Amino acid sequence: MLLRKLLFYLNFGLVIHTVICLKDTVEVPRFEDSLSNLTVSVGREAIFTCVVNELGSYRVAWLRVDTQTILTIATHVITKNHRIAVNHSDRRVWFLHIHDVRQSDRGWYMCQLNTDPMKSQTAYLDVVVPPDILDYPTSSDQVAREGANITLRCAAHGVPTPNVVWRRESGDLLPTTKFSDLQNHSISGCELQMIKISRLHMGAYLCIASNGVPPSVSKRVTLVVHFPPIMTIQNQLIGALQGDSVTLECHSEAFPKSINYWTINGHIISQSDTRFEITAIEKGYEVVMKLKIKRVSRGNFGTYTCISKNSLGDTDGTIKLYPISGQYEDKQYSEINDFEENPDVSELEALKRSLAPKSTQMNLVLLLTALVILAEIYM
Ligand SMILES: *[C@@H]1O[C@H](CO)[C@@H](O)[C@H](O)[C@H]1NC(C)=O
Ligand SMILES: *[C@@H]1O[C@H](CO)[C@@H](O)[C@H](O)[C@H]1NC(C)=O
Ligand SMILES: *[C@@H]1O[C@H](CO)[C@@H](O)[C@H](O)[C@H]1NC(C)=O
Ligand SMILES: *[C@@H]1O[C@H](CO)[C@@H](O)[C@H](O)[C@H]1NC(C)=O
Repeated sequence: MLLRKLLFYLNFGLVIHTVICLKDTVEVPRFEDSLSNLTVSVGREAIFTCVVNELGSYRVAWLRVDTQTILTIATHVITKNHRIAVNHSDRRVWFLHIHDVRQSDRGWYMCQLNTDPMKSQTAYLDVVVPPDILDYPTSSDQVAREGANITLRCAAHGVPTPNVVWRRESGDLLPTTKFSDLQNHSISGCELQMIKISRLHMGAYLCIASNGVPPSVSKRVTLVVHFPPIMTIQNQLIGALQGDSVTLECHSEAFPKSINYWTINGHIISQSDTRFEITAIEKGYEVVMKLKIKRVSRGNFGTYTCISKNSLGDTDGTIKLYPISGQYEDKQYSEINDFEENPDVSELEALKRSLAPKSTQMNLVLLLTALVILAEIYM
């Protein structure tokens, strides 16, 4: 209907024009180029450009094809849409401005001349929307027990439909279910499924949505994995001379963070006990517990226990500190000390370990070993 009305309007103009211009041999207006399609981000300005040569006193109108709406005629804006404007340069180059483009503006537009027959050209306005990640359907930070199955979700919209990719903030490989993805630093898809998560999966995950319309967006989801403490000890038997300084070491892993402390022969060692130096070096869920005995005395020998507790459980490990001094002469101590630096020390340690509880036997073996080594050197 509107279009017909428009044609009527333009033809009316045409009639007048024809009357006026009949005297000259009439120059016929023609388009210089075809109208170009536009792709515009929502909120920006779209400008169609229609170039007409020899317009004379004909008029240029802009129309919205899909809705059959007349937008402008010559320099007049006909539509009530305030986001529409028209301007021209020398009546040759005609611009249709659409400010603050909305998705509803997507469609076909026409530049029309009121010639007889009417001349027109059309072009398409595509409205694109940068990606956005929807808060509600997208996973928030997760806390789970080790061994659980976890699915992280990311919901994004935009035009065109965005691609969603998951990756770890650390850049590490992703833990996933599908064998084919094992080598991937990122996987595409809205869902990141993780079967039987472990402490190694703890950390930040990024969901990144992109659709070619800048800017891309991402959301960070942290995965916290809870597990009871475990303790590992490298050296469970340590021999020391009286007067030595010795450091006992335990490695604990726990999350939430554990409370860590030491006991000797069942008594808690106080942090303020000046005979000891207690340190705990934390790195993520790992803790290196160190107990330094500044100067070993007779009373320091015995069983040390390192203990780790969190809300999910507790664990401990023991280290036995035994004397390698006592019945020896000072000279012999220094000999043994020299051998401690010998690469064969591991053999010596192994012997110590297997015989540790029986200290008299152990001393005998140590003495023998020392003698054997001495013999090797002097022969
Ligand atoms: C018409 O709009 C175009 C595009 O914004 C601009 O370059 C041009 O200067 C304007 N012309 C006039 C006469 O306002
Ligand atoms: C303009 O866009 C329409 C709709 O997407 C498409 O069919 C047409 O081929 C495009 N024309 C040009 C010249 O790109
Ligand atoms: C986790 O998923 C695996 C494989 O789908 C299933 O066998 C297992 O029972 C699930 N575990 C839990 C705790 O739901
Ligand atoms: C995994 O990586 C390969 C090669 O890097 C790629 O072709 C494949 O599409 C990726 N798989 C997923 C699910 O992203």
